[in-house]
Amino acid sequence: MERPRITIFDTTLRDGEQSPGCSMNVQEKLRLAQQLDRLGVDVIEAGFPIASDGDFEAVQSISASLRRPIIAGLARACTGDVDRAWQALQGAARPRIHVFLATSDIHLKYKLRITREKCLEQARDAVRHAKSLCPDVEFSPEDATRTEVAFLCRVVEAAIAAGATTVNIPDTVGYSMPEEYGNLIGTLREKVTGIDKVTISTHCHNDLGLAVANSLAGVQAGARQVECAINGIGERAGNASLEEIVMAMRVRPDRYPYETAVAGEHLYPSSQMLAEITRVPVQPNKAIIGRNAFAHEAGIHQDGMLKNPLTYEIMTPQSVGVPDSRLVLGKHSGRHALALRCEQLGHQFERRELDEIYRRFVILADRIKKVQDSHLLELIQDVASGNVSSDVTGSKGKKFPPAAATLQFPRAVSAAAGPNASDSHPAQVSGSAGQASVSIPFTDHHSEQEDYLWGV
Ligand code: KIV
Ligand code: ZN
Repeated sequence: MERPRITIFDTTLRDGEQSPGCSMNVQEKLRLAQQLDRLGVDVIEAGFPIASDGDFEAVQSISASLRRPIIAGLARACTGDVDRAWQALQGAARPRIHVFLATSDIHLKYKLRITREKCLEQARDAVRHAKSLCPDVEFSPEDATRTEVAFLCRVVEAAIAAGATTVNIPDTVGYSMPEEYGNLIGTLREKVTGIDKVTISTHCHNDLGLAVANSLAGVQAGARQVECAINGIGERAGNASLEEIVMAMRVRPDRYPYETAVAGEHLYPSSQMLAEITRVPVQPNKAIIGRNAFAHEAGIHQDGMLKNPLTYEIMTPQSVGVPDSRLVLGKHSGRHALALRCEQLGHQFERRELDEIYRRFVILADRIKKVQDSHLLELIQDVASGNVSSDVTGSKGKKFPPAAATLQFPRAVSAAAGPNASDSHPAQVSGSAGQASVSIPFTDHHSEQEDYLWGV
């Protein structure tokens, strides 16, 4: 059966850029937009044209330079904003005007100071005006998840009647829980006349760390567009992270049987480009694209990885564009990992020799945390020449730069490893390379139990 196609709406350049420290100039936005095009996102929200001349110019130049993706410009629900957005989108092959208006009582009372009736009228008029200019119009009732559901249904229905082709349901303050958000999408599908003719979209913020879970719950309830950002950047705690959404669907098609057009192998390069442009580093343990996402330090893990990467990796680094696993040589590393690294450096050892190298390695790793190739080579030379300088006190005159030693793992073909890890899902093999089986490159004549302990 064909899997439903999910539209990936990237808002890195609009909501993402609103996060502290993430502002970009026009050239930087254009460069990132070109990368988003390579990544295969369906919609690029290029900016909020009325907000500044820079935003206007960015939307204009991205519209002029990219032909494939839809280019969206954001506008508040008023004529001036809609006209300015439309002006910026003039060169776009596939323009979209994205109109938003808050609908929750707290926003109506304290921020907009308008009644519900006025809100309804303003939403209808703005969408109608946008539709008179552009066939592709998205409407977002801001703070939808804190809006009284009956009123939300009325506003969404009015926006659809006025011509909206996509209705986006923002969890603006990241307040919703996955089940609740899914139910809200379900209720709208049930109660709103005309909703079956439009695309329902999710837009979830991460204030409680649930943006991705909420977006996926929305998709399960019938949403077919997900708004998200590279590295999860966005207002406050950020937006749903694009790479997590895409890979959750790719690694778990049993739970999320949906397709996206995203080219997995461009995820990591896109993340790196964003971090480089904004100078906002990615947290090391960030899922999918953090520098530790495919790093293994504990001995048991390294041992398992050497025997079969699927023991500790549910997707291949290649499937998300990470060059290869980084196996950090530190004090928790085991002999198997050490032996393989030594072999990659051109040194093979008998078991007893390796024991001695391992003994000194652990002492060294305890002191310097991460052992580089250069340290390992010094240590090997010392052992070979009967020297004790690499032992406990052994750093005399030696420099220990901070970069980690890395090991290359043989790779499995499948990008995912569920209970049927050997079944390769077509959506998961994108960008993956390597071999299906793993050969341990040094001879081992010991029992499995001994080997298991030895690997620790
Ligand atoms: O979070 C939000 O509500 C938004 C809207 C403008 C879609 O970013
Ligand atoms: Zn937002």
